[in-house]
Amino acid sequence: MRAMLSPLFALLLTLPALAAATDADEYAARRAEVMRRIGPDAMLILRSPPLQTRNGDVDWPFRQEDSLLYLTGLDNPDTTLVLVPGDEAHREIVFTLDSDPAAELWTGRIPSFDEVSKRSGVTEVVSETRFEDFVRAAMEGRAWGDSASYRSFATAGLPNWVQKRRDGRAVVWMIQENRHFGDDASAEQHLVERLRRSYPELQFRDAFPLLTDMRMVKSPSEIATVQRAIDATVAAQKAAMRRVKTATHEYQVQATIEYTFRDQGACCWGFPSIVAAGRNATTLHYVTNNDPIPAGALMLTDIGAEVAGYTADVTRTYPQNGRFNPEQRAIYAAVLRAQDATIAMMKPGAHMRDLHELAIKTLGEDLLQIGLISRNERDQVRMYFPHGLGHDLGLRVHDVNDRTQPLAPGRIVTSEPGIYVRAADVRANPVFLALPDAERAGIDAALTKYADIGVRIEDDILVTTDTPTNLSAGAPRTVADIEAWMAGETP
Ligand code: GLY
Ligand code: MN
Ligand code: MN
Repeated sequence: MRAMLSPLFALLLTLPALAAATDADEYAARRAEVMRRIGPDAMLILRSPPLQTRNGDVDWPFRQEDSLLYLTGLDNPDTTLVLVPGDEAHREIVFTLDSDPAAELWTGRIPSFDEVSKRSGVTEVVSETRFEDFVRAAMEGRAWGDSASYRSFATAGLPNWVQKRRDGRAVVWMIQENRHFGDDASAEQHLVERLRRSYPELQFRDAFPLLTDMRMVKSPSEIATVQRAIDATVAAQKAAMRRVKTATHEYQVQATIEYTFRDQGACCWGFPSIVAAGRNATTLHYVTNNDPIPAGALMLTDIGAEVAGYTADVTRTYPQNGRFNPEQRAIYAAVLRAQDATIAMMKPGAHMRDLHELAIKTLGEDLLQIGLISRNERDQVRMYFPHGLGHDLGLRVHDVNDRTQPLAPGRIVTSEPGIYVRAADVRANPVFLALPDAERAGIDAALTKYADIGVRIEDDILVTTDTPTNLSAGAPRTVADIEAWMAGETP
C-alpha cells in the first residue's frame, strides 16, 4: 500500500483507456475544416491542460481539453496538436507521450505513436518533449523533422512560416478562454505571452469562437455517442426510481445511479450527480447527497453519464413511495406542461431566449391557478423558476454555443423548467413584499401548502428539420408513467 502512495500514484489516475467516439476520417475532416477557416498564414496550437492536484501526490482524474478531443480523439495528457495549413510538409503534427516502460509498470500502457496516428489520422506524431524545439524551428527558421539530423547545415524546417513571421503576416491561433474564471492564466495564455515577447510581429487570434461554431451542430457520430451517454443515464434514472422506495439516504440512490453508469459502460459522470430528497430539491445544484430521505418526499435526480467525452443531462423528479400526493402532482403537472410546450418549439429558427420566455409564461399560467402568484407576471414567476430553460449539450454539460444563433438541425439542447417552492425566500422577496396585502395573503396560504416542493424535469432534445426528437424519452416522465414504473407495472 505504501508503494501506491509514491509520486507515481498520481499518474495512475491520468491515463484513461482510449474510447473512440468517431473515426480518424472524421477527425481529419474536422481539422481540414479548421485549416480552411484559419487560412494559409495560420498556425493553430491546442494543448492538453495540466494535471490538477487533489491533495498530496494524488491528482484529479485527467480530462482532455474539449476541442483537442474534438479534433483528434486523443484523451491522454501531454498532448499537443499543431496545424500549419500553409506548410505542405508539416500541416498536422501531434506531440504526445513517449513510451516509458518504467512509467507503464505503474500506470499501464502508453499508446504508441502508431496508435496515436491511427486514432487521430495525423501522420506526423512526435515526442511531447520536442514541442519547444518545434516552436523554435518554426519561429526562427531552424531545422525540424528529418532535416534535424543535419543541424549545423540545416535548412529551415518550415521555411514559409518563418518568412510570414518576419513579414508580420503569421497568425497564431490558440484557445484563449480562461478556464479558471479567475486570475490563473491557462497554459495557452502563458504561451501567448511568451511568444508575444519573443516575436512582437506575430499576430494572435482566439480559436474558441471558431471551434464553438463548429461544435454547436453535432455530426451523426456525435449524436450516436450522446445517445449512448443518454441511454446509460436513462437506465440510471429507472434504477433510481425503484431504489428510492427502500433507500433510507440520498447517497444510496446516488450509488445506484453511478453503479448503473459504469455497468452500462460509461466512464463516469459528466457533472456531479444531484440526488436531492424533499426540500433539498429546491437547491438547484445540491451535490452533497448525504441526507435521509423523508417518507413520501419527492426525489430529484439530475444526472448525466459521460461516454467518450460526451455527456447526458437528464432530470427526473418522483415520489419516494411511488405515488404523487395532490400538492406534488399539481406542481409536477405545471412543470411538465411547460416542458412539453417548449420541447414542441425546439425547431430550426427558434431562439432559446424566446423558449425561455415561453416557459416563464406557461409556468405562470399554472402558478396562478395554484395560487403561488397573484398575477402572471415575469417577476413573480421568477421567484419559483430562477434559472434558464436549457443549454446545448455535448463535450460539456453546458456546451459551447453562440447565443446569437437560432436553433439548427443537429443541435442538442436541454429543456429543463422547474418550480422550487422556497417559502421563506419568497416571503422575503422584494417582488412579494411589494404586492398589495390581499395578494400577499393569498400567496402566503399557497406557500404554506406547497412549501419545500422542488420539481425539475429535464430532457435532451435533438433539433431536426422536423419534429424535435427527445433523446431521453426512455426515462418515465409523466405522472402515470412514473407511478407505473415504480409500481413495477411496466417493463
Ligand atoms: N445538471 C446541470 C444542468 O442541468 O444544467
Ligand atoms: Mn441541464
Ligand atoms: Mn441537469
